[in-house]
Amino acid sequence: MNLIETRKSVRQYSDKPISDDVLKGILNAGRLAPSWMNSQTWQFIVVKNQETKDLLSKLSNNQPHVRMADTVIVCIADNNAWSKDVFGKVLKSRGMKEEAIDNIMTIPVYYPPLLGDATTLLRSVEQVTYAIAYMTLEAEKYGVGCCVIGALGNEVTKFAPDIYKQVKDKLNLNDKHCIITMLTLGYEKEKQPLNKYRKEFDEVISLEKLGNKF
Ligand SMILES: Cc1cc2nc3c(=O)[nH]c(=O)nc-3n(C[C@H](O)[C@H](O)[C@H](O)COP(=O)(O)O)c2cc1C
Repeated sequence: MNLIETRKSVRQYSDKPISDDVLKGILNAGRLAPSWMNSQTWQFIVVKNQETKDLLSKLSNNQPHVRMADTVIVCIADNNAWSKDVFGKVLKSRGMKEEAIDNIMTIPVYYPPLLGDATTLLRSVEQVTYAIAYMTLEAEKYGVGCCVIGALGNEVTKFAPDIYKQVKDKLNLNDKHCIITMLTLGYEKEKQPLNKYRKEFDEVISLEKLGNKF
C-alpha cells in the first residue's frame, strides 16, 4: 500500500542510468504476474538504443519522455501464447493430461481463439496489464520513476501505421504481436508533487448492488 500511495507517473528524468540489476528486478515483477490460466501472453523488450527510443517516441505522437527516458520497456500482447504448443505446455505444468488439454481448447470461455481475433487480443491485453502494474510498483520500490504510455499507434488505435510497421520490423515482431504500452523509466529529474486525484470511494465502490454504499 505504501508503494501504491507514493507511486506517480514520472515524465522527466535525470541522466543517472538505471543498472541492469534494477531493470531485471522490475522485469521479473512483470514476468511473475498472474494471468489467465497462467497463459503469460506477454513479451517485454528492453530498449536503451537512442535511435529506437526516437522511433518509439514518434509512435507515441512525439511524447518527449519516450525519447528522454533512460530505458523504455515495450510491452507486447503475444497472441502466439495461445498456440497449442505454447498454451499446452502451460496447461501441462498445471498437471493437465493431453486429453484434458484438448478438451479445454474446445471450450470458448477457456480458450479465447475460438471466439475470434478481437476477443483473443482482448484477453491477451488483459494479462499484460497485470504485468505492467506490477512493474510500475517494483520500479517505485527501487526509486525509479516511470510512466505508462498507452497513446501510441498499434493494431487497435491504427495511429501512425507506417511508423508502427517500422517499429515492429525493428523489434522483430510478427502479426501475432501487438504493442500495448511502453513503460518509460528513469530517475526523476526534480521531485514533483504527488497529485493523487482519484474518484471518491463511494463513486466507484458499492455493496451488493451499484450505488449501495459500502
Ligand atoms: C494504460 C495507461 C496509458 C497511459 N498512457 C499515457 C500516455 O500515453 N502518456 C502519458 O504521459 N501518460 C500516460 N498514462 C499515465 C496516466 O496519465 C496517469 O497514470 C494518470 O493520470 C494518473 O496519474 P499517476 O500515474 O501520477 O497517479 C497512462 C496510464 C495508463 C494506466
